[in-house]
Amino acid sequence: LSPAPLSSNPISLTRFLIEEQRAGHLGPDLRLLIEVVARACKRISIEVGKGALGGVLGDAGSPGVGSINIQGEAQKKLDVIANDVLLEANAWGGHLAGLASEEMDHSMPITDISPDGSPSGNYLLLFDPLDGSSNIDVNISVGTIFSVLRCPDGVTTPGDEHFLQPGTAQVAAGYCTYGPNTTLVLTVGHGTHAFTLDREVGGFMLTTRGMRIPEETKEFAVNMSNQRHWQPPMQAYVADLLAGSTGPRGKDFNMRWVASMVADVHRILTRGGIFSYPLDAKCAAKGGRLRLMYEANPMAFLVEQAGGAASTGRGRMLEVQPEGLHQRIPVFLGSAGEVEVAARYHREHG
Ligand code: AHG
Ligand code: MN
Ligand code: MN
Ligand code: MN
Repeated sequence: LSPAPLSSNPISLTRFLIEEQRAGHLGPDLRLLIEVVARACKRISIEVGKGALGGVLGDAGSPGVGSINIQGEAQKKLDVIANDVLLEANAWGGHLAGLASEEMDHSMPITDISPDGSPSGNYLLLFDPLDGSSNIDVNISVGTIFSVLRCPDGVTTPGDEHFLQPGTAQVAAGYCTYGPNTTLVLTVGHGTHAFTLDREVGGFMLTTRGMRIPEETKEFAVNMSNQRHWQPPMQAYVADLLAGSTGPRGKDFNMRWVASMVADVHRILTRGGIFSYPLDAKCAAKGGRLRLMYEANPMAFLVEQAGGAASTGRGRMLEVQPEGLHQRIPVFLGSAGEVEVAARYHREHG
Protein backbone atom coordinates (compact mmCIF):
# COMPACT_ATOMS: atom_id res chain seq x y z
CA LEU A 1 0.00 0.00 0.00
CA SER A 2 1.44 3.40 -0.91
CA PRO A 3 1.31 6.05 1.86
CA ALA A 4 -1.53 8.57 1.65
CA PRO A 5 -0.50 12.00 0.36
CA LEU A 6 0.31 14.39 3.21
CA SER A 7 -2.60 16.68 2.35
CA SER A 8 -5.12 13.99 3.27
CA ASN A 9 -3.50 13.34 6.66
CA PRO A 10 -5.06 14.98 9.69
CA ILE A 11 -3.48 18.35 10.51
CA SER A 12 -1.97 18.41 13.99
CA LEU A 13 -2.02 21.54 16.13
CA THR A 14 1.76 21.74 15.69
CA ARG A 15 1.53 21.66 11.89
CA PHE A 16 -1.38 24.13 11.92
CA LEU A 17 0.60 26.61 14.05
CA ILE A 18 3.71 26.29 11.88
CA GLU A 19 1.60 26.99 8.79
CA GLU A 20 0.02 29.99 10.55
CA GLN A 21 3.51 31.22 11.39
CA ARG A 22 4.56 30.88 7.72
CA ALA A 23 1.45 32.87 6.76
CA GLY A 24 2.65 35.65 9.08
CA HIS A 25 -0.25 35.24 11.55
CA LEU A 26 1.95 34.71 14.62
CA GLY A 27 5.61 34.58 15.62
CA PRO A 28 7.58 31.60 16.92
CA ASP A 29 7.35 32.67 20.59
CA LEU A 30 3.58 32.88 20.55
CA ARG A 31 3.41 29.58 18.67
CA LEU A 32 5.47 27.85 21.36
CA LEU A 33 3.47 29.49 24.15
CA ILE A 34 0.25 28.09 22.64
CA GLU A 35 1.88 24.65 22.43
CA VAL A 36 2.71 24.85 26.15
CA VAL A 37 -0.87 25.83 27.05
CA ALA A 38 -2.24 23.01 24.85
CA ARG A 39 0.07 20.55 26.60
CA ALA A 40 -1.18 21.74 29.99
CA CYS A 41 -4.78 21.32 28.81
CA LYS A 42 -3.99 17.75 27.78
CA ARG A 43 -2.67 17.11 31.28
CA ILE A 44 -5.79 18.69 32.87
CA SER A 45 -7.97 16.57 30.56
CA ILE A 46 -6.27 13.45 31.96
CA GLU A 47 -6.84 14.60 35.56
CA VAL A 48 -10.51 15.51 34.89
CA GLY A 49 -11.00 12.14 33.18
CA LYS A 50 -9.90 10.21 36.29
CA GLY A 51 -13.00 11.36 38.18
CA ALA A 52 -13.72 9.55 41.42
CA LEU A 53 -11.00 6.97 40.69
CA GLY A 54 -8.29 9.63 40.84
CA GLY A 55 -9.49 11.25 44.06
CA VAL A 56 -9.76 14.56 42.19
CA LEU A 57 -13.42 15.35 42.97
CA GLY A 58 -14.77 17.46 45.81
CA ASP A 59 -13.60 20.56 47.62
CA ALA A 60 -10.03 21.72 48.11
CA GLY A 61 -8.63 22.34 51.59
CA SER A 62 -8.93 20.07 54.60
CA PRO A 63 -12.26 18.60 55.76
CA GLY A 64 -14.38 21.29 57.39
CA VAL A 65 -11.92 24.02 56.33
CA GLY A 66 -12.53 24.62 52.66
CA SER A 67 -10.28 26.98 50.72
CA ILE A 68 -11.83 30.12 49.25
CA ASN A 69 -10.49 32.07 46.24
CA ILE A 70 -10.33 35.87 45.89
CA GLN A 71 -13.83 35.81 44.34
CA GLY A 72 -15.21 34.36 47.56
CA GLU A 73 -15.91 31.02 45.83
CA ALA A 74 -15.16 27.66 47.44
CA GLN A 75 -12.32 26.07 45.47
CA LYS A 76 -12.72 22.53 44.19
CA LYS A 77 -9.72 20.19 44.16
CA LEU A 78 -9.67 20.36 40.37
CA ASP A 79 -9.62 24.20 40.40
CA VAL A 80 -6.34 23.95 42.32
CA ILE A 81 -4.92 21.02 40.32
CA ALA A 82 -5.64 22.74 36.98
CA ASN A 83 -4.09 25.98 38.24
CA ASP A 84 -0.94 24.10 39.36
CA VAL A 85 -0.67 22.28 36.02
CA LEU A 86 -0.81 25.58 34.12
CA LEU A 87 1.74 27.22 36.42
CA GLU A 88 4.13 24.29 36.21
CA ALA A 89 3.84 23.99 32.42
CA ASN A 90 4.56 27.68 31.90
CA ALA A 91 7.29 28.11 34.49
CA TRP A 92 10.16 27.04 32.26
CA GLY A 93 8.77 27.74 28.77
CA GLY A 94 10.57 31.06 28.39
CA HIS A 95 7.75 32.80 26.49
CA LEU A 96 6.01 34.56 29.35
CA ALA A 97 6.74 37.68 31.37
CA GLY A 98 3.87 36.97 33.77
CA LEU A 99 0.64 35.16 34.39
CA ALA A 100 -2.66 35.68 36.17
CA SER A 101 -5.42 33.29 37.15
CA GLU A 102 -8.94 33.21 38.56
CA GLU A 103 -7.49 31.19 41.44
CA MET A 104 -4.67 33.60 42.38
CA ASP A 105 -5.24 36.92 44.16
CA HIS A 106 -2.61 38.71 42.10
CA SER A 107 -0.66 38.19 38.91
CA MET A 108 2.82 36.67 39.12
CA PRO A 109 5.93 37.74 37.26
CA ILE A 110 7.42 34.62 35.68
CA THR A 111 10.64 35.19 37.62
CA ASP A 112 8.69 34.27 40.79
CA ILE A 113 7.95 30.74 39.58
CA SER A 114 10.51 29.83 36.96
CA PRO A 115 13.52 27.75 37.92
CA ASP A 116 16.71 29.77 38.33
CA GLY A 117 18.04 31.08 35.08
CA SER A 118 14.95 30.30 32.98
CA PRO A 119 14.53 33.02 30.40
CA SER A 120 11.44 35.19 30.56
CA GLY A 121 9.52 36.29 27.47
CA ASN A 122 7.26 38.99 26.12
CA TYR A 123 3.77 37.70 26.76
CA LEU A 124 1.23 37.81 29.57
CA LEU A 125 -1.06 34.83 30.06
CA LEU A 126 -4.41 34.95 31.88
CA PHE A 127 -6.49 31.88 32.57
CA ASP A 128 -9.57 30.40 34.15
CA PRO A 129 -7.94 27.04 34.92
CA LEU A 130 -11.19 25.16 35.47
CA ASP A 131 -14.40 26.72 34.23
CA GLY A 132 -17.69 25.25 35.40
CA SER A 133 -16.60 24.23 38.89
CA SER A 134 -20.16 23.41 39.96
CA ASN A 135 -20.23 20.66 37.30
CA ILE A 136 -17.02 18.86 38.28
CA ASP A 137 -18.56 16.45 40.76
CA VAL A 138 -21.51 15.57 38.50
CA ASN A 139 -19.58 14.55 35.36
CA ILE A 140 -20.74 17.44 33.16
CA SER A 141 -18.37 19.25 30.78
CA VAL A 142 -15.90 21.68 32.29
CA GLY A 143 -13.03 23.55 30.63
CA THR A 144 -10.04 25.89 30.66
CA ILE A 145 -10.15 29.43 29.21
CA PHE A 146 -7.06 31.51 28.36
CA SER A 147 -6.08 34.90 26.98
CA VAL A 148 -2.68 36.15 25.80
CA LEU A 149 -1.56 39.80 25.89
CA ARG A 150 1.75 41.47 25.10
CA CYS A 151 3.84 42.63 28.04
CA PRO A 152 4.30 46.41 27.70
CA ASP A 153 7.71 47.43 26.34
CA GLY A 154 10.42 47.84 28.92
CA VAL A 155 8.54 45.94 31.66
CA THR A 156 10.43 42.90 32.92
CA THR A 157 8.55 42.14 36.15
CA PRO A 158 4.92 42.92 35.32
CA GLY A 159 2.37 43.72 38.04
CA ASP A 160 -1.44 43.57 37.91
CA GLU A 161 -1.61 46.99 36.23
CA HIS A 162 0.23 45.71 33.14
CA PHE A 163 -2.50 43.13 32.54
CA LEU A 164 -5.26 45.77 32.44
CA GLN A 165 -5.44 45.99 28.64
CA PRO A 166 -8.70 45.99 26.66
CA GLY A 167 -9.73 42.77 24.90
CA THR A 168 -8.78 44.27 21.53
CA ALA A 169 -5.13 43.95 22.66
CA GLN A 170 -5.35 40.13 22.91
CA VAL A 171 -2.95 38.36 20.54
CA ALA A 172 -4.44 34.91 21.15
CA ALA A 173 -7.30 33.36 23.07
CA GLY A 174 -8.83 29.95 23.44
CA TYR A 175 -10.54 27.39 25.56
CA CYS A 176 -10.37 23.67 26.00
CA THR A 177 -13.53 21.77 26.85
CA TYR A 178 -13.35 18.47 28.72
CA GLY A 179 -16.53 16.70 27.70
CA PRO A 180 -17.40 13.53 25.82
CA ASN A 181 -14.31 14.55 23.85
CA THR A 182 -11.61 17.11 24.59
CA THR A 183 -11.67 20.01 22.15
CA LEU A 184 -9.35 23.02 21.96
CA VAL A 185 -10.74 26.12 20.26
CA LEU A 186 -8.23 28.78 19.33
CA THR A 187 -7.80 32.16 17.67
CA VAL A 188 -4.69 34.20 16.93
CA GLY A 189 -6.81 36.84 15.22
CA HIS A 190 -7.25 35.01 11.92
CA GLY A 191 -10.42 32.99 12.41
CA THR A 192 -11.48 30.56 15.11
CA HIS A 193 -10.42 26.93 14.74
CA ALA A 194 -11.27 23.73 16.62
CA PHE A 195 -8.91 20.84 17.40
CA THR A 196 -10.06 17.53 18.85
CA LEU A 197 -7.74 15.54 21.12
CA ASP A 198 -6.85 12.23 19.49
CA ARG A 199 -6.46 10.18 22.66
CA GLU A 200 -4.67 7.34 20.86
CA VAL A 201 -2.09 9.63 19.25
CA GLY A 202 -2.02 11.99 22.25
CA GLY A 203 -2.28 15.14 20.16
CA PHE A 204 -4.78 17.78 19.06
CA MET A 205 -5.98 17.45 15.44
CA LEU A 206 -7.65 20.20 13.42
CA THR A 207 -11.34 19.29 13.10
CA THR A 208 -12.97 22.61 12.12
CA ARG A 209 -11.11 25.34 10.27
CA GLY A 210 -12.86 28.70 10.40
CA MET A 211 -15.85 28.17 12.70
CA ARG A 212 -18.83 30.37 11.73
CA ILE A 213 -21.66 31.34 14.07
CA PRO A 214 -24.99 31.71 12.24
CA GLU A 215 -26.14 35.34 12.40
CA GLU A 216 -29.67 34.53 13.54
CA THR A 217 -30.78 32.02 16.14
CA LYS A 218 -33.75 30.56 18.02
CA GLU A 219 -31.76 29.44 21.07
CA PHE A 220 -30.77 31.36 24.20
CA ALA A 221 -28.73 30.50 27.29
CA VAL A 222 -29.34 32.14 30.66
CA ASN A 223 -29.73 31.07 34.28
CA MET A 224 -33.51 31.57 34.51
CA SER A 225 -33.51 31.16 38.30
CA ASN A 226 -32.16 34.72 38.48
CA GLN A 227 -35.17 36.14 36.62
CA ARG A 228 -36.68 37.95 39.62
CA HIS A 229 -33.34 39.71 40.23
CA TRP A 230 -32.87 41.02 36.67
CA GLN A 231 -33.02 44.65 35.68
CA PRO A 232 -35.72 46.06 33.31
CA PRO A 233 -33.85 45.59 29.96
CA MET A 234 -33.25 41.87 30.62
CA GLN A 235 -36.81 41.39 31.93
CA ALA A 236 -38.22 42.88 28.72
CA TYR A 237 -35.80 40.99 26.44
CA VAL A 238 -36.47 37.53 27.90
CA ALA A 239 -40.23 38.14 28.22
CA ASP A 240 -40.31 38.69 24.46
CA LEU A 241 -38.14 35.59 23.81
CA LEU A 242 -40.59 33.52 25.87
CA ALA A 243 -43.64 35.01 24.12
CA GLY A 244 -42.84 32.78 21.14
CA SER A 245 -44.18 32.96 17.61
CA THR A 246 -47.22 35.08 18.49
CA GLY A 247 -45.08 37.61 20.43
CA PRO A 248 -43.05 40.56 19.10
CA ARG A 249 -40.11 38.32 18.09
CA GLY A 250 -42.36 36.18 15.89
CA LYS A 251 -40.55 32.90 16.59
CA ASP A 252 -40.35 30.15 19.19
CA PHE A 253 -37.07 30.09 21.14
CA ASN A 254 -35.46 27.09 22.81
CA MET A 255 -33.35 27.41 25.98
CA ARG A 256 -30.13 25.66 27.10
CA TRP A 257 -27.99 26.30 30.21
CA VAL A 258 -25.09 23.97 31.01
CA ALA A 259 -23.66 26.29 33.71
CA SER A 260 -20.18 25.79 32.28
CA MET A 261 -19.42 28.84 30.14
CA VAL A 262 -17.05 26.79 27.96
CA ALA A 263 -19.75 24.26 27.13
CA ASP A 264 -22.41 26.90 26.48
CA VAL A 265 -20.04 28.92 24.27
CA HIS A 266 -18.89 25.78 22.46
CA ARG A 267 -22.51 24.97 21.58
CA ILE A 268 -22.98 28.52 20.30
CA LEU A 269 -19.81 28.40 18.19
CA THR A 270 -21.06 25.12 16.74
CA ARG A 271 -24.72 25.85 16.04
CA GLY A 272 -25.45 29.47 17.03
CA GLY A 273 -27.36 30.98 19.92
CA ILE A 274 -26.96 33.74 22.48
CA PHE A 275 -25.24 33.32 25.84
CA SER A 276 -26.06 35.84 28.55
CA TYR A 277 -25.09 36.54 32.12
CA PRO A 278 -26.68 39.93 32.80
CA LEU A 279 -26.45 42.21 35.79
CA ASP A 280 -28.86 41.14 38.49
CA ALA A 281 -29.65 42.32 42.01
CA LYS A 282 -27.37 39.60 43.45
CA CYS A 283 -24.27 40.49 41.42
CA ALA A 284 -24.87 44.19 40.64
CA ALA A 285 -22.59 45.38 43.45
CA LYS A 286 -19.74 43.36 41.94
CA GLY A 287 -20.49 44.57 38.39
CA GLY A 288 -21.72 41.18 37.10
CA ARG A 289 -21.11 37.46 37.56
CA LEU A 290 -18.47 36.54 34.96
CA ARG A 291 -14.94 37.85 34.90
CA LEU A 292 -13.81 40.22 32.14
CA MET A 293 -10.14 39.33 31.78
CA TYR A 294 -10.16 35.51 31.67
CA GLU A 295 -13.77 34.63 30.81
CA ALA A 296 -15.56 37.38 28.85
CA ASN A 297 -12.65 38.78 26.79
CA PRO A 298 -11.17 35.52 25.45
CA MET A 299 -14.66 34.24 24.61
CA ALA A 300 -15.52 37.58 22.96
CA PHE A 301 -12.37 37.37 20.80
CA LEU A 302 -13.19 33.79 19.72
CA VAL A 303 -16.83 34.64 19.01
CA GLU A 304 -15.99 37.77 16.97
CA GLN A 305 -13.41 35.80 14.98
CA ALA A 306 -16.21 33.35 14.13
CA GLY A 307 -18.48 36.13 12.81
CA GLY A 308 -20.45 36.56 16.05
CA ALA A 309 -20.67 39.49 18.46
CA ALA A 310 -19.97 40.09 22.15
CA SER A 311 -21.46 42.91 24.18
CA THR A 312 -21.87 44.10 27.75
CA GLY A 313 -25.39 45.13 26.73
CA ARG A 314 -24.06 48.70 26.60
CA GLY A 315 -21.10 48.35 24.25
CA ARG A 316 -18.56 46.06 22.60
CA MET A 317 -16.95 43.75 25.17
CA LEU A 318 -13.48 43.94 23.62
CA GLU A 319 -13.37 47.73 24.01
CA VAL A 320 -13.95 47.79 27.77
CA GLN A 321 -10.97 49.33 29.60
CA PRO A 322 -10.33 46.92 32.51
CA GLU A 323 -9.97 48.37 36.00
CA GLY A 324 -9.13 45.20 37.91
CA LEU A 325 -7.69 41.75 37.28
CA HIS A 326 -10.81 40.05 38.65
CA GLN A 327 -13.28 42.65 37.40
CA ARG A 328 -16.75 41.31 36.63
CA ILE A 329 -18.93 42.29 33.70
CA PRO A 330 -22.37 41.56 32.18
CA VAL A 331 -22.05 39.30 29.12
CA PHE A 332 -24.09 38.83 25.92
CA LEU A 333 -22.37 36.89 23.16
CA GLY A 334 -23.08 34.69 20.17
CA SER A 335 -25.12 35.13 16.98
CA ALA A 336 -24.52 38.73 15.86
CA GLY A 337 -28.17 39.53 15.03
CA GLU A 338 -29.40 38.32 18.42
CA VAL A 339 -26.67 40.12 20.40
CA GLU A 340 -27.72 43.32 18.64
CA VAL A 341 -31.35 42.68 19.65
CA ALA A 342 -30.28 42.26 23.31
CA ALA A 343 -28.30 45.53 23.09
CA ARG A 344 -31.37 47.27 21.61
CA TYR A 345 -33.47 46.26 24.64
CA HIS A 346 -30.77 47.82 26.85
CA ARG A 347 -31.00 51.08 24.90
CA GLU A 348 -34.80 51.12 24.92
CA HIS A 349 -35.46 50.05 28.52
CA GLY A 350 -33.01 52.32 30.37
P1 AHG B 1 -16.03 29.14 37.38
O1 AHG B 1 -16.41 27.71 37.59
O2 AHG B 1 -14.76 29.31 36.59
O3 AHG B 1 -16.04 29.96 38.64
O4 AHG B 1 -17.10 29.80 36.40
C1 AHG B 1 -18.45 29.47 36.55
C2 AHG B 1 -19.26 30.38 35.69
C3 AHG B 1 -19.47 29.92 34.27
O5 AHG B 1 -18.80 28.82 33.85
C4 AHG B 1 -20.95 29.65 34.19
O6 AHG B 1 -21.48 30.13 33.00
C5 AHG B 1 -21.54 30.35 35.37
O7 AHG B 1 -20.51 30.50 36.30
C6 AHG B 1 -22.66 29.56 35.97
O8 AHG B 1 -23.35 30.37 36.84
P2 AHG B 1 -24.60 29.83 37.67
O9 AHG B 1 -24.03 29.05 38.81
O10 AHG B 1 -25.32 31.08 38.09
O11 AHG B 1 -25.45 28.98 36.75
MN1 MN C 1 -14.61 29.79 40.19
MN1 MN D 1 -15.21 30.31 34.80
MN1 MN E 1 -12.80 28.64 37.15
